[in-house]
Amino acid sequence: SISTVSALLKGEVAVDKTVTVRGWLRSKRDSKAGISFLAVHDGTCFDAIQAVVPNTLDNYESEILKLTTGCAVVVTGQLVESQGKGQNVEIQAATVEVVGWVDDAESYPIAKKRHTFEYLRTQAHLRVRTNTFGAITRVRNTLANAIHNYFHDNQFYWVNTPIITGSDCEGAGELFRVSTLDMTNLPQAPGGGVDYEQDFFGSEAFLTVSGQLEVESHCLAMSKVYTFGPTFRAENSNTSRHLAEFWMVEPEIAFADLNDDAQLAEDLLQHVLQRVLDEREDDMAFFQQRIDKTVIDRLRAVIDNRFERIDYTDAIKILENCGESFEYPVSWGADLQSEHERYLSEKHIGRPVVVMNYPKDIKAFYMRLNDDERTVAAMDVLAPGIGEIIGGSQREERLDVLEARMDEHLKEELWWYRDLRRYGTVPHAGFGLGFERLLNYVTGMENVRDAIPFPRTPGNAHF
Ligand code: 4AD
Ligand code: MG
Repeated sequence: SISTVSALLKGEVAVDKTVTVRGWLRSKRDSKAGISFLAVHDGTCFDAIQAVVPNTLDNYESEILKLTTGCAVVVTGQLVESQGKGQNVEIQAATVEVVGWVDDAESYPIAKKRHTFEYLRTQAHLRVRTNTFGAITRVRNTLANAIHNYFHDNQFYWVNTPIITGSDCEGAGELFRVSTLDMTNLPQAPGGGVDYEQDFFGSEAFLTVSGQLEVESHCLAMSKVYTFGPTFRAENSNTSRHLAEFWMVEPEIAFADLNDDAQLAEDLLQHVLQRVLDEREDDMAFFQQRIDKTVIDRLRAVIDNRFERIDYTDAIKILENCGESFEYPVSWGADLQSEHERYLSEKHIGRPVVVMNYPKDIKAFYMRLNDDERTVAAMDVLAPGIGEIIGGSQREERLDVLEARMDEHLKEELWWYRDLRRYGTVPHAGFGLGFERLLNYVTGMENVRDAIPFPRTPGNAHF
């Protein structure tokens, strides 16, 4: 019967059974004694299984000796205890069927053992075959699954907010336009400018930067909801933390304030980190060994400790008095730059930290105004090595206060959002967790381009 490599290596199949595995060759070694050792992987776990192939097989000369890394094979044989070190069991091959050859081993783009991550980004269709990207793919999946499980177990509903939208949630003007108009011959409106009434949707449409505004509508009927989907930002920042297309997890809770929001962020992160440590021991051992020596201890410390919470105003004082020379100056009213965020989480606390109550002028219109009228009930969760991984807030639930922070155009466009404050409004809060930044934090990988299968960045919508 057909087994996965994972089931065999985990001891789920009895020794002496005849088994079949299907997968790809990670490496091969031919001994002088006329035996070949194949390492076969199928994506189900970090390690490959060893198949021992004797030269008595019919196709030994004609095929086995010609196999190279990347070839697809089906191996059948007896599962035996391994004589060699590094694995408990191996397959004594009775047949090896070659399903797919590698045309030309020399030109196989990932033939060599070690490649830079930068090079592998140019081979996004093949890099998943490497150890590292196999591990990233599995951890990404466990994280996604753990996120859905956490919410499901805590009575949240997953809401599928639209990808095409008319509104700019963050107000940062980083929108990708969605249009069917002929760019070389745009229809002109009577008063000048492009006539979007002639476009597919009859008005301007964009790819969403966040599902928050829409998910708030469902929060104010279903109590606890979340979105988890792709979001898009035409942010022209070529950094290791920014993607033009990234996935975001956005919970929204009713009858809740900023402290409840911070507590939710803490609970969610602790839950998903624990799941990764439990479920992906093999992959995490690899990340620990090869990518970041501290990664497992770091995650344990997050799971075992409450998150520190500090006020933005106190964070500024800490930064002003820390004696560090920053590239960007710090003073009350300025947004925190990545270097500041990293100082606070890495050096000051040593773990993720929640910074709360930012100046209203640097935050979005929907955040709830505090009694001091200078700050809003915003929070960012900052993580060592990454900086901001979560941005959230308590929402402004008072119609008059909300409207005072919207211009006429925004009021008109978000008439439905204002309705939510008119009909049964309640205090509510939520946040957005950047899924790729979380994955980087969990694996120790440094660049978000390595945390998503096909990264989209300025100048690159292909590979
Ligand atoms: O802080 P942001 O912009 O918050 C929002 O969009 C809110 N509407 C979320 C909410 O309250 N429901 O983004 C949230 C998170 C950031 O903390 C960061 O982790 C991630 O999304 N993020 C990005 N990740 C990768 N590439 C980018 N260009 C990102 N921009 C934001
Ligand atoms: Mg933010």
